[in-house]
Amino acid sequence: MSDLIEVRGLRKSFGEHEVLAGVDFAAEAGTVSVLLGPSGSGKTTVLRSMNVLETPDAGLVRIGDASLDFGSPPADKAAYRRAVKALRARSGMVFQSHHLFPHKTVLGNLLEGPVQVQGRDPEEATAAARELLAQVGLAGREDSYPSQLSGGQQQRVGIARALALRPEVLLLDEPTSALDPELIGEVLAVIRDLAAERWTLVIVTHEVRFARDVADQVLFLDGGVVAERGGAEVLTEPREERTRRFLSRVLDAG
Ligand SMILES: Nc1ncnc2c1ncn2[C@@H]1O[C@H](COP(=O)(O)OP(=O)(O)O)[C@@H](O)[C@H]1O
Ligand SMILES: [Mg+2]
Repeated sequence: MSDLIEVRGLRKSFGEHEVLAGVDFAAEAGTVSVLLGPSGSGKTTVLRSMNVLETPDAGLVRIGDASLDFGSPPADKAAYRRAVKALRARSGMVFQSHHLFPHKTVLGNLLEGPVQVQGRDPEEATAAARELLAQVGLAGREDSYPSQLSGGQQQRVGIARALALRPEVLLLDEPTSALDPELIGEVLAVIRDLAAERWTLVIVTHEVRFARDVADQVLFLDGGVVAERGGAEVLTEPREERTRRFLSRVLDAG
């Protein structure tokens, strides 16, 4: 099978600080890639670059048939903007905290993107949104406001909202790290379901046990590069000393 995601030679500096020094990975459709690494190692920057919320200095990002070579982007501004838009449409982002619109209902939050931005038929988008809410275990909460939901429920709405845009890939940036411990499980369960349904996921998480269960591929980011990669065995039998040290710190903390 050919890869759905291709990230090659991704570089990004903030001022003098080189955060990504050539990040490479690829992922097949229907697989789960887990990205981990110390705080500040550039995990968020990788996801944001894939969604073009951040503009890398160099490197290629391809998702499906949309790709952008940031080292030699289209010279024509309109062509560049089209390429950004096409690439951005291929992925949905789930952030650490959900960024829901507080003044909109759950259903309103799910319809904003599909109807206002994508111009889809409101009836069709509503039916699709209801199905997504059922999928994340929130059938019947369509008319609630975010403030009436628990943090776990809000984060599940955040996942449904990202899926409502029909991305090919879902990018999740520490989706449970802002939650109270007792709410983490319900969000991880939803992500497990998505993995079982063969959604293509790239997840930054420090939930090592969860990662071991769902990961087809593990990427350990350190020093601006993928310092170790492999299957889920990277989490249990890391080859690199720095991976081992990181994992023992994370496991101690948990
Ligand atoms: N917009 C920004 N401006 C300046 N520095 C940034 C910006 N975004 C991230 N950084 C820096 O880049 C490094 C990597 O950040 P990040 O990708 O958030 O790492 P991680 O998600 O692995 O913790 C950090 O040192 C962070 O301070
Ligand atoms: Mg981060």
